[in-house]
Order: sequence, then C-alpha cells, then structure tokens
Amino acid sequence: MRLIKSHEEINEIKRACSISVKAHKRLMKNCSPGMTEYQIGAELMHEFHSSDAKEAYPSIVASGKNACILHYTKNNSTLKNGQLLLTDAAAEYKNYASDITRTIPINGKFTKPQKIIYEIVLDAQKKAIKKCMVGNYWSDIHREAVKTLTKGLINIGLIKGKLTDAINKQKYERFYMHSTGHWLGLDVHDVGNYKRNGEWRNLEPGMVLTIEPGIYILDSLEGVEDKWLGIGVRIEDDLLV
Ligand code: GLY
Ligand code: MN
Ligand code: MN
Repeated sequence: MRLIKSHEEINEIKRACSISVKAHKRLMKNCSPGMTEYQIGAELMHEFHSSDAKEAYPSIVASGKNACILHYTKNNSTLKNGQLLLTDAAAEYKNYASDITRTIPINGKFTKPQKIIYEIVLDAQKKAIKKCMVGNYWSDIHREAVKTLTKGLINIGLIKGKLTDAINKQKYERFYMHSTGHWLGLDVHDVGNYKRNGEWRNLEPGMVLTIEPGIYILDSLEGVEDKWLGIGVRIEDDLLV
C-alpha cells in the first residue's frame, strides 16, 4: 500500500518538495564564506518552519571535504572561499518526506576541477532519470548512474582501464559507495521491497523514489592528484514514476 502513492499522497509529497526548493534557494542566496554550516543551515529551517513543515531528516550541511562524509551532521565548520557546499536537506509536510541534495560553490564560482566533477555527477543524474520509466527495472537506474560516473572518472584519469572491466570490478566504489536511490514517502527511506522473487522490481505508476548519484574523493585517497582531493558532489531529486 505504501509503495504506490495515491493522488492525495502525491500532492503532499509535491508540497514537501516545493518547500524544500524554497529552502535550497534561500540557502543559495545567503551563502557566503565566513559563515558556519549551522548558520547557513538556519536558512533552511526558516523556510521549513515558516511553511508549516519540518526537517524530514537531520540536515547535512557539509562544506569542503566534509561533503565526503556521507552522513555528516555536525554542521559546525566554517564555510571557506573556494570550497563546495553539499546540502542534503528537505522538508516533511503532513508526514510526507522529500529528500533533496544540492552542491554549490560557496563563493558562487566553481574551480575547474570542481566543475568537472559536478558535470559528471549531473550527467549521471540526467541519464539515470531517463531510466525512471514504467516497466524498467529498479536496478536500471543505478546501473545507468554507475556507467556514466565510471565513464567520466575514466575520462579524467581517476579510474584506469576499460569501461566494462572497470564496472565489473567495481572500481567506481572508491568514489561512489552508495546506491542511486530509495523509495520515498511517509519515511525518507520508505518501506517496500526492491526485489520480488529474487528479481529486481519493475517500476510502476505511483512509485516515488530518489535519484542521487555522487562522487566523493576523500583527501586520504592514495594515487589521486592533489587537485581532486576533498571534492564531494551529490545531486539528489525526487521522482514520481
Ligand atoms: N537524506 C538521506 C538520503 O539521501 O538518503
Ligand atoms: Mn536520499
Ligand atoms: Mn538525501
């Protein structure tokens, strides 16, 4: 029952998404070097509460290399010029969750390496979104994201070897270690099986899910050029099948 959303439920989720969009825009407008992560995070809370909503989950407001910590919630570092800010934060409205991530340059302008990584992630997300269609397998979305991310990482020399081999050997896992999405609804990670009788489930009208590829280049990684180290990018949106 929870996996296929009714019209009423879809409307509540859409409303939660609109509030989240306002919150992210408010954060983007007010973001500048010198603020702390929790200060800029307060802009999100302002928008959630003034729209009669609350946080769907503890907000992740992660500047610089903190973006590489997947469930970072300390939110107590100072935003620095030249860094990225990854914000995974969204509203819950009438018990229905949304789940959105944006990654922006704190001073308004990407450095070249940041831009290159951002564009690979954005390309992966756009291609994965195209797979979000009735009848496709749930796993098609993740497979497409992994393929695009791996291709991009090969192009810039962060993964060595041929595409198929790199995918089969999961060489991307050093940089992309989570899945591309989950069901969304009353919970941010909503209930519902991803497989049926051992097979990936087909997408059906009324399912709601996230698509959230990312690249995380931990600054402790060996054999990676300095210019990439500490860059973390995720882009997450919410889809109705
Ligand atoms: N905000 C939790 C998640 O993206 O899954
Ligand atoms: Mn998510
Ligand atoms: Mn999220």
